Amino acid sequence: MAGRAVPLILDMDPGVDDALALVTALRGGRVAGVSTVAGNAAAADTCRNARLVLARAGSPGLPVAAGAERPLFADPLPAEAVHGPHGLWQAEEAPGPLPTPWPEPAWRWLGRLLEGTEPVDLLATGPLTNLARVFLWFDGRPPALDTLVIMGGSLSAGNVTPTAEYNLYADPEAAEVVLAAAGRGRTRLVGLDVTRRVRFTRGDAARLAGLGGTLGPWLAEVVTAYVEAAARRHPQGPPGAAIHDVVALAALEQPELFEWEERPLGVVTTGPWRGSLLPLPPEAGRAPVAVARRVDVEGFGRWFWRRLGL
Ligand code: BDR
Ligand code: CA
Repeated sequence: MAGRAVPLILDMDPGVDDALALVTALRGGRVAGVSTVAGNAAAADTCRNARLVLARAGSPGLPVAAGAERPLFADPLPAEAVHGPHGLWQAEEAPGPLPTPWPEPAWRWLGRLLEGTEPVDLLATGPLTNLARVFLWFDGRPPALDTLVIMGGSLSAGNVTPTAEYNLYADPEAAEVVLAAAGRGRTRLVGLDVTRRVRFTRGDAARLAGLGGTLGPWLAEVVTAYVEAAARRHPQGPPGAAIHDVVALAALEQPELFEWEERPLGVVTTGPWRGSLLPLPPEAGRAPVAVARRVDVEGFGRWFWRRLGL
């Protein structure tokens, strides 16, 4: 007899690639809720965007807990050029009234879930502010946290500074709190080294319309705007746009599509390399996390389109 699926919580800042990851995750049938955080857009926008996606995807009843409105110490850093002024490129119209957010702040809701005895998987695809609050509350990795997958960081070039990736750069102190303790359990870090290899074209975006209903054509429009914005920002760059957060979901669900390396890691919090990953020697005494070094791009594509039934 197959065991019960471990419930999955998504902590995110939707954001177009977060929205696509959420839609894709729902198809796995084990999403138990979403917590949101300020990042790609303001906290009110990311919370609304998560509820909007759930409503359009036919899961309006799932809890959405609104989280941190700003990083632990830094100022908020909206990514307007990437995701538009409110996170979903001006496609914010809802199919009807949206359900109200969960009555507790995200970190309290997560804290209660993660102190239980039932294991919970967590996929974090935004700045790590909510998670850091939870880790600080538990003084380390929460007991019920099973697999933690984080989209963040880079061991090659960054996308905000020459070495820093957005999610870590947006709240480096929070990322350092989480990475200091994350390796005491199963943790996978999925950074730009692999996520920028998986690129979505206009044709891919159009294909999403096949999801039908109030979701498909809308999602196609939002992702098309994201692909076009990437082309405007990097006219000489590789074709298409990286769908970072969906790659992180694949790393949770299909880790065999990736090559992994165990490494103790920290995050730089001061100076010009602020927000960058800091590889640490064993002498530092920090438990290693699994870092994705390579991805099977074709295998990812097969998994993704099969998952969406397209
Ligand atoms: C990350 O930054 C955000 O803009 C994306 O949603 C993704 O989580 C990539 O650096
Ligand atoms: Ca994100």
